[in-house]
Amino acid sequence: MLVLGIETSCDETGVALFEGGPTGRGLLAHAVYSQTAIHAEYGGVVPELASRDHIRKLLPLIQEVLDQSGVEAASVEGVAYTAGPGLVGALLVGAALGRSLAWAWGVPAIAVHHMEGHLLAPLLEDPAPAFPFVALLVSGGHTQLVDVQEIGRYRILGESVDDAAGEAFDKTAKILGLPYPGGPALARLAEQGDPQRYRFPRPMTDRPGLDFSFSGLKTFALNSWQTVRAEREDLEQARADIARAFEEAVVETLLIKCRRAVEAAGVERLIMAGGVSANRRLRSRMDQEMAARGVSVFYPRAELCTDNGAMIALAGHERLAAGQQEALRFGARPRWAL
Ligand code: KG4
Ligand code: ZN
Repeated sequence: MLVLGIETSCDETGVALFEGGPTGRGLLAHAVYSQTAIHAEYGGVVPELASRDHIRKLLPLIQEVLDQSGVEAASVEGVAYTAGPGLVGALLVGAALGRSLAWAWGVPAIAVHHMEGHLLAPLLEDPAPAFPFVALLVSGGHTQLVDVQEIGRYRILGESVDDAAGEAFDKTAKILGLPYPGGPALARLAEQGDPQRYRFPRPMTDRPGLDFSFSGLKTFALNSWQTVRAEREDLEQARADIARAFEEAVVETLLIKCRRAVEAAGVERLIMAGGVSANRRLRSRMDQEMAARGVSVFYPRAELCTDNGAMIALAGHERLAAGQQEALRFGARPRWAL
């Protein structure tokens, strides 16, 4: 079955064509338009501007993936769109267009949970992980450990009680004066940092459990940054050192919790997905750590870690193939538990 996927939950417009099933050709085309330039001057996503830009970009992107893949619109057999969680106005753009196209083409439509999209994104790669596995979902809005038995059978093992990992990256980047969106910029800066200079805590690792708390790390970053500025030290180096300490703390905290989660679930596979899983240091440390325990680690290529239409097309395909579809109505679910 050939499925069109549409993602508009935040500040990326993503569209893709995915063909599943035993004879399916997999991901035929995908295109992402990032709105970061629009939001950069405000230092964060402006919901109203996000919705307006999705409206401008969505149809041209759909045309682009059809052209790229050489697929005729008439051969699309289902439309999957992100229905939540996310910004309500932005979600409604994708939901309205996705539902309308499905109706016009006479094919089923399916509302996809954004985090299920992230969670299944590693299945777009070869080799794809087999079930069951533990998923570490680390995005701008969520940090969750999920026990995944099969598609649709998810159990949350732990999650952040405050900031998501990506949110902590972005806020710390802002403290250090890096331009929005700060996460990737902070990661680049950290490469120049001295890991010995500062040691930030590994929050909530000194007690049992699989929940996270990342909001305190930005306070550590702020205090360290204010001290070096008051003392007029080499600011550039200090900034890199703080970035390094912050990244190290997040990565190690995630490692510790993943180790526990894999043990608790008794699985041999771990997947990572969501924007923060594009982090190079996290990937290499997780690979090492898990290899030593005989656990295989899977993650999508970097462009499929951040928001994209391919993961929505895949998740929608799986749901449609299992016989799910919805009545002729649509809505957005800004808050929606996995
Ligand atoms: O999954 P995603 O694109 O959107 C959400 O669903 O939230 O994740 C975006 C988040 C942002 O917070 C961004 O700063 C972070 O992922 N991110 C990174 C890196 N690339 C993206 N954080 C750390 N290191 C990176 N290389
Ligand atoms: Zn996301």
